[in-house]
Amino acid sequence: MERRKVGILGATGMVGQRFIQLLSNHPWFEITWLAASDRSAGKTFGEACRWKLDTPLPPKIAAMTVQPNVPEGCVGELPKIIFAALDADIARELEPKFAAVGCAVISNSSAFRMVTDVPLVVPEVNADHLELIEQQSWRKESGGYIVTNPNCSAIGLVLALKPLQERFGIESLFVSTMQAVSGAGYPGVPSLDILGNVVPFIKNEEEKMEEEVVKLLGRVAGDHVQMLDAKLSAHCNRVAVEDGHTECVSIKLRTKATKEQILAAWSEFTPLRGFAGGKPLPTAPDQPIEYEETVDRPQPRLDRMRGAGMAATVGRLRECSLLDWKFVVLSHNTIRGAAGAAVLNAEVLALLGKLDKLGVPPQPMAVLA
Ligand SMILES: NC(=O)c1ccc[n+]([C@@H]2O[C@H](COP(=O)([O-])OP(=O)(O)OC[C@H]3O[C@@H](n4cnc5c(N)ncnc54)[C@H](OP(=O)(O)O)[C@@H]3O)[C@@H](O)[C@H]2O)c1
Repeated sequence: MERRKVGILGATGMVGQRFIQLLSNHPWFEITWLAASDRSAGKTFGEACRWKLDTPLPPKIAAMTVQPNVPEGCVGELPKIIFAALDADIARELEPKFAAVGCAVISNSSAFRMVTDVPLVVPEVNADHLELIEQQSWRKESGGYIVTNPNCSAIGLVLALKPLQERFGIESLFVSTMQAVSGAGYPGVPSLDILGNVVPFIKNEEEKMEEEVVKLLGRVAGDHVQMLDAKLSAHCNRVAVEDGHTECVSIKLRTKATKEQILAAWSEFTPLRGFAGGKPLPTAPDQPIEYEETVDRPQPRLDRMRGAGMAATVGRLRECSLLDWKFVVLSHNTIRGAAGAAVLNAEVLALLGKLDKLGVPPQPMAVLA
């Protein structure tokens, strides 16, 4: 099968580098375009990027020239699929320019996550929300659109919550995070602020978690998402961990559940099996939630790479004296929480036919007499 050409906007950053790592040998996608800021444009990628991952920078990528950050400045053909890893303020300005010329923009940023007609998607949780792209004005005019994935902490949490919501309903939730430094991008948090320390504040993070989780667990009602009716309180903390966000969760369910029923809900949660006619999606973990019995797990160093970094590890399920149950969930913030999440969104979009015929507005459905 010929691979689809893709571009990466913000390719030199922490998430951009993960995109390169995940897409370099991807069976469906081929990187043909890389862009970053004006500081990097015109340089080779090898010169522009401080490569921080533990696999080598592929020589073919290192030799590519970093392009200007606008569609019209593109040398050669602009790919119609753009993975975007930009800070929110920059994404707000740039992503619509790419959607307007007919690109599918698959974004990591918070800029458009809560916009009514922009899907905020974790495929195992709410792939049906992708239909909202058909409401977007860019889609109607050029065929392009924006799809987003959530904040890195919301993703791990919502994977653990979805099967509980489906089987028992969620009434209220308390979550306290311990988030890795790579979540702040590069160079991120100064070493003198974080070494031997915990910083109990991450700008806008608690607000993002609280609003995104109820959108992800909400249901599409015509042209918008009806948010889940549940109360959620989040505390977000930065800790001296390289990769992997850990979250301590207490939850009140709408109907009583036993420990065995909750464990069964997690282990039986495999919504993407069979999605591609029985064939696994390249980036989907076979088991999105892995329960770890060992009493002092999950831990970032030991568990973040489960499911090639795409599984959420849950442990320490026990009764809560304030709410009903409490547990710990861990997920890799730049794989499951960012680049991997976007690549999985793109794989699902490909299967749904929403990466075909980009650049031309979809034809209106014929009205049957
Ligand atoms: N890190 C995570 O765990 C994580 C998880 C989920 C979501 N996210 C989100 O993903 C986005 C990227 O995060 P990150 O951690 O990768 O940040 P980062 O390491 O700071 O990288 C930022 C990238 O944006 C580029 N950039 C800056 N200004 C630009 C401009 N005017 N035009 C085009 N490109 C520009 C930078 O290029 P230069 O090298 O040229 O400056 C760099 O490639 C953010 O919205 C973040 O909130 C991050």
